[in-house]
Amino acid sequence: MSIGKNQARNLHKFLTGQPLTSPSFGSMTLDWDDVELAKNLLSNPSLWEDEKVVSQYETEFASWNGSKYAFAFMGGRVALSACIYGLNLQPGDEVILPAYTCVVVPNSFHFAGIKTVYCDIELDTYGLDVNKVESQINSKTRAILLHHLYGLVCRDYQAILDLAKRYGLRVIEDCTHATGAEYKGQKLGNLGDTAFYSSEQSKVFNTIQGGIATTNDPELAKRIEEYYKQAAYPDLDWIDKQLHNIILNFYQFKHPQRWWLGDIFNLLYGYKRLISTTSEEEKGICPKHYGCKMTAPIAAIGLNQLKKIDYYNNCRRETAKHWDIWCEEHGYRKPVVIEDSIPVYLRYPVLVEPEKKQNRFWAYKELGVSLGVWFVSNIHPSQNVEGFVNADKAVSGCINFPCLI
Ligand SMILES: Cc1ncc(COP(=O)(O)O)c(C=O)c1O
Repeated sequence: MSIGKNQARNLHKFLTGQPLTSPSFGSMTLDWDDVELAKNLLSNPSLWEDEKVVSQYETEFASWNGSKYAFAFMGGRVALSACIYGLNLQPGDEVILPAYTCVVVPNSFHFAGIKTVYCDIELDTYGLDVNKVESQINSKTRAILLHHLYGLVCRDYQAILDLAKRYGLRVIEDCTHATGAEYKGQKLGNLGDTAFYSSEQSKVFNTIQGGIATTNDPELAKRIEEYYKQAAYPDLDWIDKQLHNIILNFYQFKHPQRWWLGDIFNLLYGYKRLISTTSEEEKGICPKHYGCKMTAPIAAIGLNQLKKIDYYNNCRRETAKHWDIWCEEHGYRKPVVIEDSIPVYLRYPVLVEPEKKQNRFWAYKELGVSLGVWFVSNIHPSQNVEGFVNADKAVSGCINFPCLI
């Protein structure tokens, strides 16, 4: 939106006695210290290629997550590509995945020539429905990708792991929404063969761009490392943009006076804005610079974010209690928290009437929050696969509330 329109809206708010600062999109874990760090890194380009920082980040993430091996990339999608390589999946192999996911997930398989076979989800936690997985298995199936969406541990987690074991299939865990969630006293991602995490700006912790692949299997780790070693390191212009995006993001979405500072910083640095998913990726085309490693400055921000991740995850859990009460009072079903699990609530998903999803401003007016509409199509945001009843129900009626306000 243009500055003119924004400030006219602010003037209207001022004249009608409304607060000037609108509710944030609600997933911002960047603070002043991250901004200071980004500014410091911007003035010290000699630190931009210090791979030791990336190794330190990988080691600290692995230790915090309870995983033996971790490898840091430019995004969760690239980390998934590394997992695919690690598992030695070959063109023509098939993988089963939820028919309610982000388009970048099937893309990673397609870029490697792997066939994606979709399977419907359940509506308790929006994960793969184990009862529907078995009928999709055939002689070409090699792996199952399960996900823990919105930060909830998926309902059929154990049952899918057991099924995979019975059929000799490998399991990839998409933990991009659930970094820090736990199951049976362990962080998520350690029960399947390999897992991937995201620190993209809408996720549990925020480094603007970033993804990590983990495993506890030394053979798999060797292959992921092979992928890592041949991955390119982004150029200096890209790193400059990443650091400016930290500052931009903070002033646009987190700063208490973002109602005017957001516009100023957009004017200054808006031209350096990085887009999470390009229009090419939305169409399933592999972008030119796909498959890069994480940069040292982003790893430095990641190390700082790791110091705060438990604090912010606890804040999310506290806010979720408020949404639990809202659901009870308004007659909506709460998302299911399976036994022995501790979710992180990246967002708080609720199935509502489709009209409430289409007109999302009701939440702003009635509850003072910005509503999330993940997902707007079952292969979000640009593709649709037919014939999945629950995925379609989630697309038409699943909204989500922010848990960091
Ligand atoms: C379910 C899911 N998996 C994977 C990803 C990819 O993560 P990244 O943006 O870090 O590549 C996303 C991104 O939004 C996602 O929503």
